[in-house]
Amino acid sequence: MTWDPDQYHRFRSERLAPFEDLIRWLRVRPGMKAVDLGCGPGELTRRLAALLPDSEVIGVDSSAEMLPKEPGFELGRIEDIRGEYDLIFSHAALQWVGDHPALLAKLWSCLKPGGQLLVQMPYNFEHVSHQAAARVAHSLGQPVRTFPMLPVEEYARLLYDLGAVDFEVVLKVYPHVLADADAIVEWTRGTLLTAYQVTDEFLKDYRAEVRKACPGAPVFYGFKRILMTASKP
Ligand SMILES: C[S@@+](CC[C@H](N)C(=O)[O-])C[C@H]1O[C@@H](n2cnc3c(N)ncnc32)[C@H](O)[C@@H]1O
Repeated sequence: MTWDPDQYHRFRSERLAPFEDLIRWLRVRPGMKAVDLGCGPGELTRRLAALLPDSEVIGVDSSAEMLPKEPGFELGRIEDIRGEYDLIFSHAALQWVGDHPALLAKLWSCLKPGGQLLVQMPYNFEHVSHQAAARVAHSLGQPVRTFPMLPVEEYARLLYDLGAVDFEVVLKVYPHVLADADAIVEWTRGTLLTAYQVTDEFLKDYRAEVRKACPGAPVFYGFKRILMTASKP
């Protein structure tokens, strides 16, 4: 499945909550050069840019479907980042890139002295919404998508080893209340399921598993995310 900005935007308000949390840590200085890695449809890149006066903010994403076709957005891979930035921002995207120790080291090397790393990553891989997708993919002979997330405390240690100052790493559960189990399926269709070939059979089996595990209406969808900030001395 490819990324679809319309499907992704169906849960726009729920996805805004971690952004609001993350930008509480934002250190605004004049004339910043900032990059939003895995910017998707660019809504949050524009919000970030609005908070950074007289600054240059670019959004980078590897999906031509997601990326806005306007100045300030570039097609590219997170892991190919080059240049030097005052702010490296990434919201719900680094979980798609492997080898997080190497990735964090690379991002760190692209931060100017005094620069800030500001990252949010979903951490919900133990939830039935993710586990069921893996089980269904396996049962249909598809490769199971694994994610490179580390134990939360590992991120703090990695930042310490990189020489970060003023750093914080937080694991937070976002308490979403959705209409029913099918709404959880619609949510993951906009994100996780892009990793799979979502045939009718896939969707039928997946929906059945999620309905069984999350009966009733409305349903509580607790969604874990890691948020982190770190400054380079
Ligand atoms: C869940 S969306 C997040 C979009 C946006 N940051 C937001 O929070 O609304 C994840 C985005 O990461 C992008 N992505 C995944 N792997 C990537 C990579 N290796 N390089 C660049 N972008 C990537 C996808 O194309 C997608 O647009």
